[in-house]
Amino acid sequence: MRERLLQLAAERRARLVAQASTGAFLIPAAHVRVRNADSDYAFRQDSDFYYLTGFEEPDAVCVLRPGQEPRYVLFVRPKDREAEIWGGRRAGVEQATETYGADAAYALDELGQRLPELLRDVDVLYYAWGRDEKLDRELEKIVIEHRRTRPRRGRGIVSVVDPGTLLHEMRLVKDPYEIECMRAAAAASVAGHLRVLRETRPGMHEYTLEAMLEYEFRVRGARAPAYGSIVGSGANATILHYRDNRAPLVEGELVLIDAGAEVELYACDITRTFPVASRFTPEQRALYELVLAAQTQAIAAVQPGAAFSAPHDRALDVLCEGLVSLGLLEGSAERVREAGDYRRFYMHRTSHWLGLDVHDVGLYTVEGASRSFAPGMVLTVEPGLYIGAELEEVAAPFRGLGIRIEDDVLVTESGHEVLTHEVPKAVEEIEALRGASAVSAS
Ligand code: GLY
Ligand code: MN
Ligand code: MN
Repeated sequence: MRERLLQLAAERRARLVAQASTGAFLIPAAHVRVRNADSDYAFRQDSDFYYLTGFEEPDAVCVLRPGQEPRYVLFVRPKDREAEIWGGRRAGVEQATETYGADAAYALDELGQRLPELLRDVDVLYYAWGRDEKLDRELEKIVIEHRRTRPRRGRGIVSVVDPGTLLHEMRLVKDPYEIECMRAAAAASVAGHLRVLRETRPGMHEYTLEAMLEYEFRVRGARAPAYGSIVGSGANATILHYRDNRAPLVEGELVLIDAGAEVELYACDITRTFPVASRFTPEQRALYELVLAAQTQAIAAVQPGAAFSAPHDRALDVLCEGLVSLGLLEGSAERVREAGDYRRFYMHRTSHWLGLDVHDVGLYTVEGASRSFAPGMVLTVEPGLYIGAELEEVAAPFRGLGIRIEDDVLVTESGHEVLTHEVPKAVEEIEALRGASAVSAS
């Protein structure tokens, strides 16, 4: 697995620098961050850095210099017996070249001294300002120095360009290895969602479901959830980024679960909404069927060559029509849509890219127009409806309902593939699972 990843990282570096033959790239790793006192957050590598290096240690810096030797330079934490006893193994300078393929590697504390030399003849520097304060400061010194010496030397940094302009376009289209990782993340996530669909009972707490989900993720090799798991029951489901996850589950309410595993640093992002009891109420069911219809139509719009905006447009068509027929909004569906009245109940967009980051990189709009889908792109399709509990103008049985249904969709040569289809979402399937589990539990 690692050999394959490192081979791919080498190919990606080659493809990246082929697009910028006179510049240099400076890509920093993530840092360990303090959670409180002397406890740190679990370390998670920066996605750009990982994509290009396959190297998972904090603080490192990758320098790519097309056309100049050494071309690929890594600054890494040096071997240190004492530090490794406390904090874990380090690859060190030697492994950085031998295993990770750098042409040259140095200890991190040499960065300040070596970077000016490495960037000496660079004109365009690909570097994302504003993400790494310490490196920003080092570079500021170098850029100012180049401004001073450039007239005499005839070379030096004249522009600093966001590497995302090239790198994120590469990350947007997933290669077969990445798709395998995303399938593994989907498998772990599906297992978690299936378990809560089967085992949720009234009287449990939202955190019980969170624990079940994350147990299933973890035992399938996920290092962590890809983002903070959302388990919102009752009106908590109308809070889009609800994270408290500590209310008791009440029979008669719905529970919305938005959770996905991260495997090999690739994210999965699934939402399901189901009754705490075994059946939907008629109003819950009506609203759920509407969101499901919107999602089904939106997924059908994911086709190579179609616009990124197509799934959102289809979802809005269905939702606006449905909100009017359910009496939740007044006027014609067209007017509701044009005036944006639906935003009272549907306030987010339908899709985002998915990959190393849950809201993954890549442009949604290119030259003023919605981008076209191409094979290898992965996106979520996640329409929802959120009826605030305080909305007195809405019929009482609809108040406080929050419903979202989210799947991950791979664009293929011939259409699309739903990577997360194994978690049921049809009303009958959900009620059968909920009913069966209620019976088997009693
Ligand atoms: N869980 C974040 C999202 O659905 O976009
Ligand atoms: Mn999402
Ligand atoms: Mn989600």
